[in-house]
Amino acid sequence: MNSGKLLSFNLLNIFAKNPNVPVTKDKGYKVPFDRNLVVIKLKEVGIVISTADGPTTSKFSFVVSNNSFKIPVRRNQFVTVTTEEGLAIALITNIRKTNRYFMHAESVKDFNQNGKIEDFIPIVDWEYVVADAKILGVLDGNTFDKLSYPPSPGAKVYLAKESLLKQFLGIDENGLYIGKLENHDVEVRLNLTRLLQKHFAILALSGSGKSYLASVLIEELLDRKKELGRVAVVVIDVHGEYVSFAEDKNYADKVEVIEGSEYRIGVSTLYANQIASFIPNISPAQRRDLARIIEELQRSEELYSLQDIIRRIQADTLISRSTKQALIGWLEDLKNTGIFSKVDYPALQKIIRPGRLVVLDLSNILSLKIKQIIVAHITEKLFFYRRNGLIPPYLEIIEEAHQFAPEKVREELAISKKNIETLAREGRKFHACLCVISQRPLHLSTTVLSQCNTHLILRITNPYDLDHIGRSSEAISRDDLESISTLKVGEVLVVGEAVNYPIFVKVRRRKTKQSRYADSLEATAARYEKVIYGDEVKREEQKSHSTYINNALR
Ligand SMILES: Nc1ncnc2c1ncn2[C@@H]1O[C@H](COP(=O)(O)OP(=O)(O)OP(=O)(O)O)[C@@H](O)[C@H]1O
Ligand SMILES: [Mg+2]
Repeated sequence: MNSGKLLSFNLLNIFAKNPNVPVTKDKGYKVPFDRNLVVIKLKEVGIVISTADGPTTSKFSFVVSNNSFKIPVRRNQFVTVTTEEGLAIALITNIRKTNRYFMHAESVKDFNQNGKIEDFIPIVDWEYVVADAKILGVLDGNTFDKLSYPPSPGAKVYLAKESLLKQFLGIDENGLYIGKLENHDVEVRLNLTRLLQKHFAILALSGSGKSYLASVLIEELLDRKKELGRVAVVVIDVHGEYVSFAEDKNYADKVEVIEGSEYRIGVSTLYANQIASFIPNISPAQRRDLARIIEELQRSEELYSLQDIIRRIQADTLISRSTKQALIGWLEDLKNTGIFSKVDYPALQKIIRPGRLVVLDLSNILSLKIKQIIVAHITEKLFFYRRNGLIPPYLEIIEEAHQFAPEKVREELAISKKNIETLAREGRKFHACLCVISQRPLHLSTTVLSQCNTHLILRITNPYDLDHIGRSSEAISRDDLESISTLKVGEVLVVGEAVNYPIFVKVRRRKTKQSRYADSLEATAARYEKVIYGDEVKREEQKSHSTYINNALR
């Protein structure tokens, strides 16, 4: 913490311990500091009132001051009020306007009938605004405690200062900058350990900004200074959206793109049970036979393919005819996926590096089963390498996570689920971190979701999804759940381990350009027409015609 910040915390402490220091003309507090009197400027927003049920230690209401601002306070703004125990921080939960003129039906009737009644009755001046605030804690030294004695009616209410808010929310100067705190000019920087170590989920409706937010986080991870500790990032890119990182001149040299169709699983590196995990219906007896054959092949110390395993099974004299038939059938199916070879490609150990991004582009693979096999393999492999210290701490980001770790789906349709759940359960101890992104949280494995200790939630309207999220995170209040359905694109609720209190954040603009996938319908349609029918077809566009048509058809 730099000296400027220390100074402001000290001032606040002094201020907290001297609640009766008089207000100066410029709406500041004069407090003794370093044998001088210094003024802390605070924006006064109102005065605590006495109501039927407050103030208490958990809430108070205040009449909003008529200051020069058109909108002096907003819902979800943080305010402070002095109490006998020190400076309390509170959140505005509700604001209501009242005007006694409009309380009486007869006078309202007159208002309409007598034309400009405001000319002789000061109706506008009778309007006043009352805000309700929920008390969140009281500053005690450098930490926050629960308030045990209520603020007094008549106490002045101020907008919370930036330094106090940062301390209260647990914002880390060296954290990942995701955007500004709603209604405050405060940069939200999430601490790396708190966000990543216990995993996180980005959840929202389609088109609400999940991939955009994930890209912002990736930029922060790639831009991070070495001295602060950097992790490697791997993104399972179902739609080819993150390939644009490799096209950006500022990031290209930190990015490796693996084409899904070029990804290969090295059969020689797999144990029998790993191969068996790709064959969901295999029986224990069949598994034993397969294991024996693989052990024999491993003893030969030569690299082998699925075809080699098939040949050995065919030649084996101990395996029954029916088991042979079943095993060979399944192994032929696996071979026909075209993703198995003798050795792995690429060598993950070589490309997973701190501060670098690996994009596994699965956009050109149509089969969900093949995508799941690849995701199962890379997830297990990365975790294995990490457990053995062969790769640095890493973050695996899985887009469309409900496709890879679905809830309530038959095992043969969820090949990658087990490995993702294992990473979610055990990754923390090894700094193997997981981020799941989904537009259908209801269909996402509850094991995975409940292991995600931070939720970044953008707009969601489906009541079943909202209910599911509410149940999977204790930190989300009913009010927050209601707010989620009214969020705009790019607004996110951050809740859980990464922050001390749930906050709404306006996600910052990304530095990298978005993928072509994000283009408008008009732009895509115009480009299609130009490529297919236009006279000005550029040479390179012609060259990549078929790829382009594939993209355009997606
Ligand atoms: N923070 C933001 N600032 C500005 N524009 C944004 C922001 N977030 C999202 N957008 C806009 O909204 C569009 C949709 O965002 P994005 O692709 O991230 O949604 P998504 O939730 O990932 O959708 P899907 O579920 O379909 O993958 C983006 O192309 C972008 O134009
Ligand atoms: Mg997306």
